[in-house]
Amino acid sequence: MARLKSSAEVEAFREAIVNERDTDRPCVTICSGTGCRAYASETLSTAFEEEIKKQGLEDKVDLRTTGCHGFCEKGPLVVILPGEICYVQVKPKDVAQIISQTVVENKIVDHLLYTDPVTGEKAVHESEIPFYKNQTRLVFGNNSKIDPKSIDDYIVLGGYSALSKALFQMTPEEIIQEVKDSGLRGRGGGGFPAGRKWEECRHAPGDIKYVIVNADEGDPGAYMDRSLLEGNPHSVLEGLIIGAYAIGSHVGYIYVREEYPLAVENVFTAIRQAEDYGLLGKGILGSGFDFTVKVHRGAGAFVSGESSALMTALEGRVGEPRPKYIHTVISGVWDRPSNLNNVETWANVPLIIDNGADWYASIGTERSKGTKIFSLVGKVNNTGLVEVPMGTSLRDIIYNIGGGIPEGKKFKAVQTGGPSGGCIPESLIDSPVDFDELSKLGSMMGSGGMIVMDEDTCMVDTARYFLDFLTDESCGKCTPCREGIDQMLTVLTNITEGEGQEGDIELLEEIAGVTRDASLCALGQTAANPVLSTIRYFREEYEAHIREKRCPAGVCKALISYYIQPDRCKACLICLRNCPSGAITGGKKQIHVIDQGKCIKCGICFDVCPKRFSAIEKISGRPVPPPPPLEARAIREKKRRRK
Ligand SMILES: Cc1cc2nc3c(=O)[nH]c(=O)nc-3n(C[C@H](O)[C@H](O)[C@H](O)COP(=O)(O)O)c2cc1C
Ligand code: FES
Repeated sequence: MARLKSSAEVEAFREAIVNERDTDRPCVTICSGTGCRAYASETLSTAFEEEIKKQGLEDKVDLRTTGCHGFCEKGPLVVILPGEICYVQVKPKDVAQIISQTVVENKIVDHLLYTDPVTGEKAVHESEIPFYKNQTRLVFGNNSKIDPKSIDDYIVLGGYSALSKALFQMTPEEIIQEVKDSGLRGRGGGGFPAGRKWEECRHAPGDIKYVIVNADEGDPGAYMDRSLLEGNPHSVLEGLIIGAYAIGSHVGYIYVREEYPLAVENVFTAIRQAEDYGLLGKGILGSGFDFTVKVHRGAGAFVSGESSALMTALEGRVGEPRPKYIHTVISGVWDRPSNLNNVETWANVPLIIDNGADWYASIGTERSKGTKIFSLVGKVNNTGLVEVPMGTSLRDIIYNIGGGIPEGKKFKAVQTGGPSGGCIPESLIDSPVDFDELSKLGSMMGSGGMIVMDEDTCMVDTARYFLDFLTDESCGKCTPCREGIDQMLTVLTNITEGEGQEGDIELLEEIAGVTRDASLCALGQTAANPVLSTIRYFREEYEAHIREKRCPAGVCKALISYYIQPDRCKACLICLRNCPSGAITGGKKQIHVIDQGKCIKCGICFDVCPKRFSAIEKISGRPVPPPPPLEARAIREKKRRRK
C-alpha cells in the first residue's frame, strides 16, 4: 500500500474500496471479541471457513471477524449481511444449516434467533433485539461492522476523514475550540472538560509534549475500554492523532494493560497499518505534521490507571501517584507537558470533528454531552456493554435495555463508578445518569461500571467487598489511604461477622471523612463512597447487623443458619447427598436434619432443595429451632398415625 499523501487521496482511496466491495454479496460476520472468544468463536470461524469451502462458495460469500457487539452474554454472535440477520449462541454444529439455509436460500434458522424471555417474541435483526433497540451506539456501533485488524474496513465507514478535515481545514486552535464547544468531558472518571485540558497543554511552555491513551481499565466488572480498543482501535488512534496535532505533540503513548492481549495485538496492528498508509509517522497525509505512537504494556495494578501513577510507570518506575501541585498538562511524563485521556474520550473526537460541536452538544444533558458506554453486569437479565445518551435514566438502562432482574426478584440497588463508586437505591431508579447527577447521589460516573443488585444482596457485605479490593490495590504510599481503607475494612468485616458494636457506623463515617480529605490521590479520596452511600441509603441494614446480629439479605455467613423445616421435608435425600461437609442426617423415609456444628454455611442445601418443597430456610437474627425428636422423624409412620 502506497502512503496516502493528501486529503483527496484518502477520499479517492475510500471511494475505490467502496466501489470494489459488493455490498449485496452475503457476508457472514462472527464476533471475535474476548467474550465470544470465551465461547469458542474462533472454532466457529474455522467451521464457517471450512463449510464455505465445502459448499464451493468461496467466490460468493465473504467471512469477517468483528469486534465485540456488546451482548456478550448471548455469544457467540453471528450476523449475516446485507440482511443483518442475527443469530445468538451459535455452535459449530449450526454452521452447515446457516450456510445452506440463510446464506444460500435466504431463509431464517428459527432456533438460532434471539427470543425475548418476557414476551417470547423472536428478533430476526440485531437492531430489533430490545438490548440494542434502546441504545444510541455512536462510539461503539462500528465495532460490530468492521474487522478490527482491517484499516480498510474502518476507512470504508468514513474513518480518517476527521483527521483529514482537522489537518487541512482547521487550525489547532479551531480544533480545540470545537472540542470545547462540544462539551466533551473525560470518560475515565473525573469528567474533566477535554477541550480545556488540551488547551492548557497546548499553552504549556516546552517544545516536547506527550499525548497518552489511558487503557488501563482495572475496575472489577468493567470492560468497555478494552472492548473498544479491541474492536475499533483506529477510532481511538484517529482521535489521538487529532489531539496531538491540536496540542502540538509529536509523540504519543497507548498505555494498555498487559492482561488485555487482544487489545494489545490489535493496537499494534492498527499502528503498523496507519504507518503504512501515511496516517502516522513523518509528514502525515503530506501535511508536514509528524507524529509517532508507542505502546506501553501496563503490569495490571489498579492504581496505575491514575494519571500521575500512569505517567510514572511510563517513565519506567513503579506506578505510584505523586502530588499534583503542578498539573500533568504542565509537567507530566519526564516533566514535560502531557495530556492524558481515556480510550472512550479519544474515540469521541473523530465524531465531533466530523459532525461538528453543535451536533455533539445536542446529545445528552446540559452539562454532560454525548453518549456513555456502560458495562452493565450483575443481577440483570441482559448483561453487556450499553451505550446511551447522557441523561438516560437508570430505570431505562436496567429495565428497557437490561431486561430487568432475573427470576422475578426485586431490584435493590445499582453500584456505579467502579470500586470507589456508590450504591444507588430503588427509590432513585428514575434518576438521570450523568456526571453531576451521580455525584449528587453520592456515587459517580467513574469509567462506566454498573453493577445491578437484587434483594438477595447484603449492602454491608457489598461495601466490605469493594473496600477489600481497594485495600489490596492501594499503593500504600500515603498513610490516610493505606490505613484509612484498611481500618474501614476491619470495621466492616467485624460487622459482617457479627462482631459489630454500637458506634461503628459513626466510626466508619469519621474514618471515611479523614481518608477522603487527606489522601494523596483519588483512590483514597473516593474509597469511602461505597461505605458512605450504603450507610446513607441502607442504614437500617447496618443497624440490623450490629444490634440484632441479623443479616436481612441472608448473606453474611456468621449471621445465618440453614434449617430444614420438618413439615416441608420430603426426605428426598437431595440435600443430604450434596452437602459437602456431611452435616445432614436423615434417610429415605426420615426427615433430614442439619447438624449446626458441622454446617459450613455454603448454602448448597438451599440451592438444591427442589422448589416445590422449599424445605430449607435461612435463619438470621433468631435461634435455630431444635430438630424434631428422633421418633418423630419417620415420614411414613407420621402419615399412618394421622390415619
Ligand atoms: C485509582 C484510579 C484508577 C484510575 N484508572 C483509570 C483507568 O483505568 N482508565 C482511565 O481512563 N482513567 C482512570 N483513572 C482516571 C485518571 O486518573 C484520569 O483522570 C483519566 O485517565 C483522564 O482521562 P479523561 O479526562 O479522558 O477521563 C483512574 C483514577 C484513579 C484515581
Ligand atoms: S465479545 Fe461478542 S458480543 Fe461481546
